[in-house]
Amino acid sequence: MARKLKLALIGLGRRGRGSHLPVYAKLKDVFDFVAVCDKDEAALQEVAKEHGVNTYSRVQDMVKHEDLDVVDVVVPGDAHHPICCYLADAGINMMVETPIAPTRPMADLMIEAAARNNVKLEVAENYHRTAMARFQAKVIESGVIGEVGRIYRIFYEGGYHGMSMLRLLAGSPPKSILGITQVTPVVPIIDRMKRRHTEERWVNSYLEFENGVAATMMYSNVIHARSLGRKATGISQIDGTKGAIVDNTVYYTSPADYENGAQATAYEPQLSFIEVNGSQVLDRISLELPEQTITWQNPYAALGVGENNGRGIDMADQLMSIANAVLNNTEPTYGAQAGRLDEEMSLAASESALMNKQSLSFPLNSPSKTEEQMHARFKENYGHVYTDIEPLLDVFYPRQ
Ligand SMILES: NC(=O)c1ccc[n+]([C@@H]2O[C@H](COP(=O)([O-])OP(=O)(O)OC[C@H]3O[C@@H](n4cnc5c(N)ncnc54)[C@H](O)[C@@H]3O)[C@@H](O)[C@H]2O)c1
Repeated sequence: MARKLKLALIGLGRRGRGSHLPVYAKLKDVFDFVAVCDKDEAALQEVAKEHGVNTYSRVQDMVKHEDLDVVDVVVPGDAHHPICCYLADAGINMMVETPIAPTRPMADLMIEAAARNNVKLEVAENYHRTAMARFQAKVIESGVIGEVGRIYRIFYEGGYHGMSMLRLLAGSPPKSILGITQVTPVVPIIDRMKRRHTEERWVNSYLEFENGVAATMMYSNVIHARSLGRKATGISQIDGTKGAIVDNTVYYTSPADYENGAQATAYEPQLSFIEVNGSQVLDRISLELPEQTITWQNPYAALGVGENNGRGIDMADQLMSIANAVLNNTEPTYGAQAGRLDEEMSLAASESALMNKQSLSFPLNSPSKTEEQMHARFKENYGHVYTDIEPLLDVFYPRQ
């Protein structure tokens, strides 16, 4: 049996405690969860009591006293690059939450530090790892809707997550982008994720991919928050040469009907469950078509990952990605460059809007105007330039 990897978690906030930590127990044969680090003393004590792990309020102290293989970095985005650069220089492998970093120069510091120290860096980009996203990728791969031509994601997801999904569904790197943005005031609100909003930042992106696929995506921070009645509904439609996927429904047209109205029949994916330790866990998603059945199998079902229609499958998959990369000295399945490209595409929408709605080609000039503004804001907020790694470790980063 492979050796167990000593794992620590930095960041006991909403995401770290709510989504990452619960999956560690399911992967107890792979990881030995030994330590946590946060600036919030009450959270440290609660997690220590529950999991019997060592606690630290400074990353430097944790690195000094623990012999760690992997650190799961779940602090706000502005803290990703100082913490990851420090961990890499200490020879520790990392999985970092999304976005990899707010700007490409910040991400590059992390990527260079990982390469220089020969450690692995995975990005916890989870949207494409969910059961339904994996299943849809299989449906597209099977060819039942033909070659993908257009993708509409309206009020589904935005930013780097949205860009990651568009690349998955398009099956190609991006070629160019046109971004249109608008900012309107909203009454001051605190959303269900405890984020404060006083304005709605609406982003409308039109993208072309190298393989000719076109995509349109529309989103805002208030839609993401589901506040003020936003996202009552959304549209995900993938149009192919032979059919379409609308939300989760696959539309298939029999070749016999191509010249006779070409009406499609709707096929719904079927979810099957197995019982593991008294819980119903998603085992597979299948689609029965006239000539074939397409099935996606949950690789983590036997471990009890996938309750409530698939919860935790994305998390287990990304933790296994960093574990396998470390144990077998291979590359993580998503990787830092893909995370950087997602952020570049997301920044490009704002950059295009800032440049009077010019269509921009990839790669973007570096640093872009948007990134320069973000670097200036970073210095204003934290009192240090973003390259000043050591003092940035002791800053408290508020929720963004
Ligand atoms: N993939 C997703 O769907 C998804 C969803 C939500 C959040 N996220 C990402 O997860 C990360 C965390 O977000 P969150 O909502 O949990 O934030 P949060 O503010 O709830 O939690 C962050 C934690 O980091 C701690 N912290 C701040 N500065 C620190 C420092 N210098 N050293 C150690 N700990 C420090 C805070 O005390 C807090 O407990 C962010 O990168 C965010 O973008 C991803």
